[in-house]
Amino acid sequence: MQNNTFSGLFVGQNIVRLKVVNSTNTFLKEALSNFAPLPEGTVIMADVQTAGRGQMHTNWVSEPGKNLTISILLKPAFLQLHDQFAMNKVVSLAITDVLLRHTGSSTKIKWPNDCLIGGKKIGGVLIENSITNSRIKDCIIGIGLNVNQINFPHWLEHATSLRKILHTDYDLTTLLGELCSALEARYLQLKANKTALINADYLDRLYGLNEIKRFKTGNVVQNGKITGVTAAGRLIITFKDQEQTFGFKEIEMMQ
Ligand code: BTN
Repeated sequence: MQNNTFSGLFVGQNIVRLKVVNSTNTFLKEALSNFAPLPEGTVIMADVQTAGRGQMHTNWVSEPGKNLTISILLKPAFLQLHDQFAMNKVVSLAITDVLLRHTGSSTKIKWPNDCLIGGKKIGGVLIENSITNSRIKDCIIGIGLNVNQINFPHWLEHATSLRKILHTDYDLTTLLGELCSALEARYLQLKANKTALINADYLDRLYGLNEIKRFKTGNVVQNGKITGVTAAGRLIITFKDQEQTFGFKEIEMMQ
């Protein structure tokens, strides 16, 4: 562990930098289950992940040393379990706050928390909570943010990076500092109960809001319009004037 010089109160004040690890999320989870005394805001950062994990049991692929692959520990014990989606909002808002500062206004959040620029994915989030006595004890926030990578494998044709968009290299530690400050600011908003502001910002950045898109549910493909997200984090879609809500694995946006 090393002390850091980032401004801010707690996020990023302790950084564990690893050359190689299977997955920063797995590393953090194992450290916690071995009772490592890790303070809230601890960041695990790796140059290389040999088994980086994405949503829905996918792999997260990232060129060594080019991108941010990090996990951050927060302890939102103040949150009711039925409000845990608020953490997804806070994290994707923090990432897009940083991206907006660098790139301008085309940054969007594809529900639940993919970060897009120009319709292409630049960042992904994998949140893993451990629950004790109906409260979130540890919230492991895994973030993969494409920064300096230019070439992506053919199956990631919809991926992009800051370098691809802005044609300039970024210092990963500086960017990490910005991300830590943004996350701390958004997290403190949540702690201060500023949910209306968080919800409004999340909706404002929500990809596809009020636009007709094609959705696949089971074997059915039909046009629908995203009209919001429930407090529990379910996506609200209107199909032919009929509103339905969906969990993460229940719906696929086709475009
Ligand atoms: C997704 O979009 O599917 C989520 C990707 C999350 C990737 C990050 S990289 C750092 C952290 N460690 C992991 O194994 N996964 C997350």
